[in-house]
Amino acid sequence: MDQKSGHAAAVVGLQWGDEGKGKLVDLLAGKYRAVVRYNGGANAGHSVVVGGERYSLHLVPSGILSPNCEAIIGNGVVVDPLRLLEEIEMLRSRGVDTSRLVVSDRAHVVMPYHKAEDAAREELLSVATEGTQSDATKKVVSAIGTTKRGIGPAYADKIHRSTAIRIGDLTRPEILRTKLDMICGLKNAVLGAMIGEGFEPFDAETMTNDMIECGKLLAPMIKDTAYLLDDLRKAGQPILFEGANATMLDVDHGTYPFVTSSNSSALGIGAGSGVPPQCISQIIGVVKAYSTRVGGGPMPTELFDATGEDIRKRGREFGTTTGRPRRVGWLDLVAVKYSAMISGATELCITLLDVLAGEPELKIATAYRVDGQTTDRFLPDGYLLDQAEPVYETLPGFSQDITMARTFEELPPNAQAYIKKIESFVGVPVGMISVGPDRVQTIVRDAVYAATT
Ligand code: GDP
Ligand code: IMO
Ligand code: MG
Repeated sequence: MDQKSGHAAAVVGLQWGDEGKGKLVDLLAGKYRAVVRYNGGANAGHSVVVGGERYSLHLVPSGILSPNCEAIIGNGVVVDPLRLLEEIEMLRSRGVDTSRLVVSDRAHVVMPYHKAEDAAREELLSVATEGTQSDATKKVVSAIGTTKRGIGPAYADKIHRSTAIRIGDLTRPEILRTKLDMICGLKNAVLGAMIGEGFEPFDAETMTNDMIECGKLLAPMIKDTAYLLDDLRKAGQPILFEGANATMLDVDHGTYPFVTSSNSSALGIGAGSGVPPQCISQIIGVVKAYSTRVGGGPMPTELFDATGEDIRKRGREFGTTTGRPRRVGWLDLVAVKYSAMISGATELCITLLDVLAGEPELKIATAYRVDGQTTDRFLPDGYLLDQAEPVYETLPGFSQDITMARTFEELPPNAQAYIKKIESFVGVPVGMISVGPDRVQTIVRDAVYAATT
């Protein structure tokens, strides 16, 4: 698994998030000089288990747990400074060296009014759609089920420009105060109308002081990360990009409108980091051995029965960020093949395969039926996808505990066949298989890995 000098790779989710990206990034980080987040914010929840210790990371790149790795928050991330400081404190209190953390001066700031607006919009949407005609329409014209971390409103302000605050602004008190006077006036008017009774207006002076304090604490970490990454590349140092959220949640290519607000596929890497796309030679698409989704939106293979409940329990499918139970379903290869195309996956890592042990049969969606027609093409339009019925192929299950398997050959034949089916359908080799949350519970197929690096 040694990396060629100057090599840049990425770990990207190919489903609806929570594929085990954090575990994989942590596993690989030791071979890289820097791990870089390029999108999303504290909506991400990346769990890493090292030596039995579990860390839940939301903003800090998972590379922080590897001693020689710089952990870089790129310009494409929306940063909630209070949450970031809490996370840094949590890591320091557990003995992790956080001096290797760097934040882009151009990353946008998630402000308290963004979180208020995120929650208020979700609430208003739920109420506004209560009277919608049919149950089918209600299901797709509804709140998104966001994490309420202020992600959408912060990215909206980035696009508005005049009402945006960037990390660099936290170190410019006079400019910050002037901007916040203007912005708070505007936000108070809008949010006051949205929330109505009980709304507590934001005070520009208090907010400025709080943010200046955050700026002072973050100042040593704030840098121009585009130049920093260019310097690392020129010095021949390998870099790993850590995708947050996932390809199915990409604002342009995911199941819109039930998506997040950033380019969370591999397509976001260039814009979110300043590293040009041709520099990235390896894109590892992470695929959970079944499907999960948190929040609203279509999910053709969703299970509502005891099998779904079993998988949820065995996979501990409760959100790292919000604690919400995750929706669970069979593996949807129509979706995965589409995501592999959009993100340009050069290899796959199949995770949580151990969770499927004990299922007598394993179903895989290989096509959809829509309006009496069968198609093997994914339907990224959220409203169209809601009409799709999955067409399944059924494979025999395996009953053995595979959490101790460390080579492909140690997997039971039916588990091997399941992996081979994924590989042949998607047309991308499976380089790694994860059989448990710990770093060591991973099968690395060196032949595949060597061919793609
Ligand atoms: P991420 O958002 O993609 O980083 O994924 P999360 O951390 O939100 O969710 C994945 C969950 O599965 C975490 O609790 C991980 O510790 C756990 N996990 C990762 N890989 C495996 C695996 O192969 N088997 C099992 N049983 N758990 C895993
Ligand atoms: P990681 O990095 C799972 C989902 C939310 C919601 C939609 C929009 O841990 O895989 P947002 O708060 O971003 O506006 O919510 O996107 N979502 C995720 N689901 N894992 C994630 O991140 C997610 N990030 C966003 O549940 O449906
Ligand atoms: Mg997660």
